[in-house]
Amino acid sequence: MVETMEHRISDVPATALVTLYCHALESRSKDPVLVDPKAVEIAADLDRTLSLSKNRLDRMLASGRIDRNLVIHIALRARHYDEYAREFLTRHPGGVIVNIGCGLDSRFLRIDNGSVIFYDLDLPEMIDLKKRFFQETERYHFIASSVLDLRWMGRLSGLEGPFLFMAEGVFMYLEADSVRSLVLQIRETFPGSGLICEVVNSFWLKMPQKALLDWKIHARGHLGKKAVFRSGFRDSREMEAWHPGIRLIGEWSYFDSNEEKLGWQRVFRHIGWIRKTQWTVHYLLR
Ligand SMILES: C[S@@+](CC[C@H](N)C(=O)[O-])C[C@H]1O[C@@H](n2cnc3c(N)ncnc32)[C@H](O)[C@@H]1O
Repeated sequence: MVETMEHRISDVPATALVTLYCHALESRSKDPVLVDPKAVEIAADLDRTLSLSKNRLDRMLASGRIDRNLVIHIALRARHYDEYAREFLTRHPGGVIVNIGCGLDSRFLRIDNGSVIFYDLDLPEMIDLKKRFFQETERYHFIASSVLDLRWMGRLSGLEGPFLFMAEGVFMYLEADSVRSLVLQIRETFPGSGLICEVVNSFWLKMPQKALLDWKIHARGHLGKKAVFRSGFRDSREMEAWHPGIRLIGEWSYFDSNEEKLGWQRVFRHIGWIRKTQWTVHYLLR
C-alpha cells in the first residue's frame, strides 16, 4: 500500500508511480530519451507527499534514487510505444487507441494528432488519482475498471475504429488464463484490431529464477508484496496458437534500440534469452 495524500494506492497500481518517476527523471536528464513534461509536473506535485510517506518506495521515488538502467528501459519503452501509436495514426488519423493499464502515463498528450480518439483504462483507484492531473475531453476518455471486467468494451460500442490496444507493463501482473480470455474477447469484439503488449519470459517465473526476479522487484525495487509477475510467454508466437485469426506482426526489446544511453547493454540484443527477458509483441487480431 502506498499513501499519496488522500489516495491510498495498492501494490500493483503503485508500479505506475515507478514508471511515472522514470519518465520524469529521464525527461530532466541530458539528451533525454523521452520528453514527458506532464510526468515532470506530476512528480513535482507528488514529491512532497511521497517524501514524507512511511513507505520506502514512496521515499525512494521522491528522492530520485531509481536504478539508472530501469529509468532508461522504461523511457525507451514509452518512446517506442509512442512510435507505435504515431505509426497507427499515420495510417488511421481518426483511429481509436485504448491504453490498457495506463497508470499516470500521458501518452495522449504526447501523440495527439488532433483527431485520435483515446481511452485510458486502469483500475478505479488509479483513474481517481489520474483525474487530479488530467482532464477528459471529447476525444480523451477514462475507463475506471479492471481490464478483466469485460463490460468496459461496451464503452467503445458505436465507434467505427480501427482500434489499437496497448498494454505497456501490464499483462505480467495478470493470471495467464485471464490474459488469454481478454485477448480472445478483444479479437471477437473488435475484429481487425491491433494489440501491442509487453510480456515477460515464463522462464523467469519458475524457481529458482523466480527468486531472483522477486528479489529484484521487492528487495531492490521496494515494490509491495502483491506486485508480482503472474504470467509469461516462452516466445512471441505463443498467442497465435490461441486462435487462427491472431497473427504476429512484430516484436521489440529494449536492447534493440541504438540508444547510446544503453551503453554496453546493447550487446544483449545478440543474446536471445536476455533480449527476451521482458519484451513487446505486436499482433493483428482478425
Ligand atoms: C507498471 S504500471 C504501467 C503503467 C503504464 N502503462 C506505464 O507504462 O507507465 C501497471 C499498470 O497496470 C495497471 N493494472 C494492473 N492490473 C490491472 C487490471 N486488472 N485492470 C486494469 N489495469 C490494471 C496498474 O494499475 C498500473 O497502472
